[in-house]
Amino acid sequence: MSRATVELHTASHAEVPDMAACRLLDPAAGPADARMGAYFRGEHHPQLALLPRTGYAAFVGGTMIGYVAGHLSTRQGCGGELQYLFVAPDSRRQGIATTLVRHMADWFAERGVRRVCVCVDADSPAARPFYRSLGAAALSPEKQLWYVWEDLETTSAPR
Ligand SMILES: CC(C)(COP(=O)(O)OP(=O)(O)OC[C@H]1O[C@@H](n2cnc3c(N)ncnc32)[C@H](O)[C@@H]1OP(=O)(O)O)[C@@H](O)C(=O)NCCC(=O)NCCS
Repeated sequence: MSRATVELHTASHAEVPDMAACRLLDPAAGPADARMGAYFRGEHHPQLALLPRTGYAAFVGGTMIGYVAGHLSTRQGCGGELQYLFVAPDSRRQGIATTLVRHMADWFAERGVRRVCVCVDADSPAARPFYRSLGAAALSPEKQLWYVWEDLETTSAPR
């Protein structure tokens, strides 16, 4: 059987309820960040966040199956930070998150940003192996919760 077609587009604050509903498909992940709507509207700023930010959502047959978001930042000596990333359980290990992060990589690169950080969800068994699969590494032995891409555009590029 062939795989369903996955469509991606830029996400907006209007889709935050769909993102929250999507995340509920994985009870282990916990509910979506209640500040997500304010984040997309540019009213909630994670530490050292700059205003420019964007997100992408992935759909199959009109149903949201995953999303990503990130912003320009000076956190951890980086130029950008990945803020949210989620893929619905039934759609995992099909490259959806990889595609979402690559869209973010292009967005960052268009703004001259290549060094990008992400605060890893320590409770997610998939998070670290996923980020490592795209070339990110722990910021330092002391900061294992922070992963960094020295050059997100290059290290997340298809091999
Ligand atoms: C982490 C997450 C986004 C990965 O999404 P995904 O669409 O399944 O990821 P991909 O299919 O693009 O995976 C790419 C590679 O990452 C690695 N990877 C992904 N999930 C993995 C897992 N559970 N165990 C080991 N490696 C994993 C593999 O190398 C994989 O390639 P492969 O399938 O060819 O072996 C998803 O599991 C998720 O939403 N988890 C809950 C929320 C979360 O942890 N978000 C990140 C917060 S920091």
